[in-house]
Amino acid sequence: MAIVKITRTKDFVVDAAAFILEQARKAIAERNEFRIALSGGHTPAPVYAHIASGTRDFRWESVRFTFGDERCVPPDDPQSNFSMARENLFVPAAVPQKSIMRMRGEIDPQIAAQQYTQQLDAIAAGRGESIYQHDLILLGLGDDGHTASLFPGTAALEETSCQVVANFVPRLNAWRLTFTFPLINHARQILFLVGASKDPQLIERVLERDQQFPAARVDPSAGEVTWIIEE
Ligand code: 6PG
Repeated sequence: MAIVKITRTKDFVVDAAAFILEQARKAIAERNEFRIALSGGHTPAPVYAHIASGTRDFRWESVRFTFGDERCVPPDDPQSNFSMARENLFVPAAVPQKSIMRMRGEIDPQIAAQQYTQQLDAIAAGRGESIYQHDLILLGLGDDGHTASLFPGTAALEETSCQVVANFVPRLNAWRLTFTFPLINHARQILFLVGASKDPQLIERVLERDQQFPAARVDPSAGEVTWIIEE
């Protein structure tokens, strides 16, 4: 079971940005690369903006951005997680295109998921890894306990081999692209970013590992899980 660290803070944006940049500096110092998966939704947007505002001369060429999930929409769609990251981080911080691996939400979901998996596999193979290992995966917490696009009762929860899948979410009547638990649980570090609007009872039940909630099934075998929870 992973080591879990919990920080409750009124300085959510500053503390979350500091944590992420600390992990980046450590990874670059140790391995000359920082592999981070961004989460979507609303909570991370001000954290990304804060990172962009304080990293004028950051070595973005040493960072590889992936996405833990994506809506099946074009990259310019306001619903797109890529669009949110581009607006709040990539453009203001002048992150080079080659540092960004976008999930192609605009094409057939099954093909997009296969392509993303192949991209991750190619990089992993180049590093002699059996599966791509993220230094840090950012995750949010949905009101139903979902994380990434691993929603309760959906097929992707049971995926044990594919790293990225297309997942139909009946509640949204929409397809999503998402990391699966095998990929998530292979990360060195997980950071859950949880805003003050989230139900404290839900947070507690997930922290108690109530398996009915997908977020409670995040348990990196050789990694750490940090929760930064806004008070
Ligand atoms: C997404 C996210 C999703 C999100 C939670 C919380 O694509 O929506 O990846 O898992 O993190 O739904 O969303 P909020 O931050 O908007 O509350």
